[in-house]
Amino acid sequence: MPNDRVSPHVVSSAAPIVTGWSAQKAADFGSTPLQFDHELQRHPLFSDEALARLIESAKREDYLVNTMDVTTHDLSSRQEGEIRDLSGQAVMQAVKNGHIWILLLRPQRSNALYLDLLHRVYAEFSSRVPGFKPYLLNMAVLISSPNVQVYYHCDIPGQMLWQLRGTKRVYVYPNKMPFLDQASLEKIAMGEATEFGLPYQNSFDDQAVVYDLQPGQLLHWPINAPHRIVNADCVNVSFTTEHFTRSLRRRYYVNYANGVLRRQRGWSDLSQAIAGPRIGPSSVWLPHTGSSARRKNARRSRRSSSGSIPRPPMGCAQ
Ligand SMILES: [Fe+2]
Repeated sequence: MPNDRVSPHVVSSAAPIVTGWSAQKAADFGSTPLQFDHELQRHPLFSDEALARLIESAKREDYLVNTMDVTTHDLSSRQEGEIRDLSGQAVMQAVKNGHIWILLLRPQRSNALYLDLLHRVYAEFSSRVPGFKPYLLNMAVLISSPNVQVYYHCDIPGQMLWQLRGTKRVYVYPNKMPFLDQASLEKIAMGEATEFGLPYQNSFDDQAVVYDLQPGQLLHWPINAPHRIVNADCVNVSFTTEHFTRSLRRRYYVNYANGVLRRQRGWSDLSQAIAGPRIGPSSVWLPHTGSSARRKNARRSRRSSSGSIPRPPMGCAQ
């Protein structure tokens, strides 16, 4: 177990991690891209030594490493790799000198200090945003070379991107057609395509909100909002946090179900609404049934759905 300790003088347990709030940001949370400030850029859990330890302790399923053409938006140039027989320090040096993107997945599973931090930051958001009840929390640490890109893509969970070192340009696009192609999103939700399976045109950039993200800043964008990233000419260290809420999970289920209907029934005009008419005091809405039948149907529905409802995928691709 790494000997990581959160120094009280670095982030006081009483001091807020996230700053830059306003009443407008709390009201707009989830519906528009938002930037906040944070206090984690010098946190010991993200020092070079801590990152080297994370790299060395990562099992194969705990990381992704890839490279890509840094001069164009050419998805075919993106190649996945593997780290073999290198110290954490040597990997960090390779990042400095190469065109590499490393994603360390789920550090909170092997080190409870990352889990504590994850819970703490979401507790802060929950205290600020009325009705925000996140769960299925996840995080990933991103270490990336100067000038590398993350091509245009969308993610299934709600997401935040926290910048720790270096600078990156982040393009965030509207989460609607044509930027977020509905059929492509369904394939991603169903696991038939990766997050990069969205059609992209250079002209989309005219509608993007663009941030030059600095250490100590974080971004949150609306669910499934496509985004792409270009590092400045410096090593970047960032991390993402991911979450679901009841409504975000419903949205995932709707896209998954629409994908099934599009595939199996050939339907194309598919609603993405996550709520429908409610009948009676119950939240169960089963038209054309009496209350007794409704309760039976609800029980039957719950029984038949256990184990058959897809679990939202976790993981991101920053
Ligand atoms: Fe992403």
